Amino acid sequence: MYKIELLGKSHDRDGFDCGSEPLNLFLKQTARQHAERGISRTFVLVDEAAVAPKPILGFFALNICQIKSERLAPPEARKLPRDVSGVRLGRLAVAKGHQRHGIGKTLLVAAMGKFLEIFNTAGGIGLFVDAKDQNAKRYYEQFGFIPLPSNELELFLPVRTIQEALATRP
Ligand SMILES: CC(C)(COP(=O)(O)OP(=O)(O)OC[C@H]1O[C@@H](n2cnc3c(N)ncnc32)[C@H](O)[C@@H]1OP(=O)(O)O)[C@@H](O)C(=O)NCCC(=O)NCCS
Repeated sequence: MYKIELLGKSHDRDGFDCGSEPLNLFLKQTARQHAERGISRTFVLVDEAAVAPKPILGFFALNICQIKSERLAPPEARKLPRDVSGVRLGRLAVAKGHQRHGIGKTLLVAAMGKFLEIFNTAGGIGLFVDAKDQNAKRYYEQFGFIPLPSNELELFLPVRTIQEALATRP
């Protein structure tokens, strides 16, 4: 069984490799500093039975973001003030030997759950993500993320899609 935890000292950050060096380096060098300074929060997926240093099978990072509503597609922008807030999925990665086994999907669902906690406390119009390439863009699109008209590698998942997705889960 898997467990999602806030990144901490018990996790083996150095052993993580997803095949993308910038993502590996973020986890190793930046994620904890960012958490301490309130810039972002990183969550890791580990095996429930793992003991410290726990191998990290995947992770994601979230931060609060601001966006001009004019950057959204017209149906989404309607009736919104000029500046709105949301949550950015800053990073998402799965360890090489564990890719294509549903961990990315599990992490995305967890990120949606974290978004709803923030939404229920302070609002926010949805989740934003920067896809690093066309392949990553296709990955996010299958979960309902919509490319922004001004930058097709920046995608948006509206709150109602998140609510529907989580309401239909067992
Ligand atoms: C991209 C990544 C996060 C996906 O996680 P994953 O655990 O491998 O993917 P999942 O098993 O959750 O895949 C879910 C679905 O997406 C599909 N999929 C997986 N990787 C994909 C990709 N790169 N592009 C398009 N579709 C993909 C799978 O076929 C699967 O569909 P299915 O359930 O119908 O078979 C992971 O492969 C990774 O970390 N890659 C390297 C870093 C990276 O590219 N991160 C993206 C940051 S922008």
